[in-house]
Amino acid sequence: MTLARVAVERCDYLAGCTEEPGTITRPFASNLRGRYEGAVDGTLLLGSHLDSVRDAGKYDGPLGVMVALGAVQRLHDEHKRLPFAIEVLAFADEEGLRFSSTYLGSRALAGTFDPADLERADAEGITMAEAIRRFGGDPGRIEEDAWRGGPLVGYCEVHIEQGPELEARGLAVGVVSAIAGQNRCDLTFAGESGHAGTVAMERRRDALAAASEFVLAVEAAARVQPGLIATVGRLEVLPGAANVIPGRVELSLDVRHADDEVRTAEVRRILDRAGDIAERRNVFVAVEPVSENASVPCSPQLVSLLLRAAGDVGHEPIELPSGAGHDAVAMSELTDVGMLFVRCKKGISHNPAESVTVDDVDGAISSQRVR
Ligand code: GLV
Ligand code: MN
Ligand code: MN
Repeated sequence: MTLARVAVERCDYLAGCTEEPGTITRPFASNLRGRYEGAVDGTLLLGSHLDSVRDAGKYDGPLGVMVALGAVQRLHDEHKRLPFAIEVLAFADEEGLRFSSTYLGSRALAGTFDPADLERADAEGITMAEAIRRFGGDPGRIEEDAWRGGPLVGYCEVHIEQGPELEARGLAVGVVSAIAGQNRCDLTFAGESGHAGTVAMERRRDALAAASEFVLAVEAAARVQPGLIATVGRLEVLPGAANVIPGRVELSLDVRHADDEVRTAEVRRILDRAGDIAERRNVFVAVEPVSENASVPCSPQLVSLLLRAAGDVGHEPIELPSGAGHDAVAMSELTDVGMLFVRCKKGISHNPAESVTVDDVDGAISSQRVR
């Protein structure tokens, strides 16, 4: 069986590890690391994440781990030692499904994990610290995960493209030039719940009506500003009954742009809009920032190495930007980062329909081959 087929079958196997049977939903586990020793000095880090969004596809994250394993397997099979070691990383919680945070595993390794995140609670009220304890870990020792392994060559991550560009151009792989910056925050609209049959329309302080107006304002803002991408992806209505006016709505906001100045200005404008809507509708709005990441350029040296490697194995070498966030963002605080995208069917991701071909994965494994 080819290494590419093994990589795809490992993603298939992992898809069976889920918290919600019938879907792929893998919120939080622990970082896994494996090391292939080199002949001289330094370490090249390869990997991605194993956690998923809710009702995910099989390849967003896991493919990068499996391709890294495939690349190391090939070196092993060919009895090759590189001048430097390779460490394969399988990060926990890149997506932030459980604790509304991002890049937990990669931030731990990069030494930028914020201990305040340990107090974040999941939907059941279990804090991150408690979840780590229940998993058999010690939240007090996260800082020991910070890289102390000596000089680094860099971090390379293979990932499905999550966009249509490679497919449209008939290409198996592409080299990432930069990763767009993003803000995430949680907003709470608080009005007053009441009887749906007796409270007159003009007396209502309906938190959902305010939140709905805000959702449309977010969409409108992104439609007029070129390159701006903005999403409300989670919305919880409380108390959530047909005959009760919604008193409280909690929702998430995710805003991205390749230009950090445009992004920060737009986030400010969108949040001002939330305040205006709340004031006009006589409800309260509270904003809790969750994360903010500046855009991250990939290292020119790794970009040119990956372009050369892709070209060497017969792929037209192209560069493309990433609108999605990746562990490479957190890892850029530690070392140079590079990324290789693999074509995915119709550019679909964060969806069970995610799909890659074995041939394209073979192209990725070959392009990760370090000469
Ligand atoms: C990661 O999937 C992201 O939200 O960009
Ligand atoms: Mn993802
Ligand atoms: Mn991912």
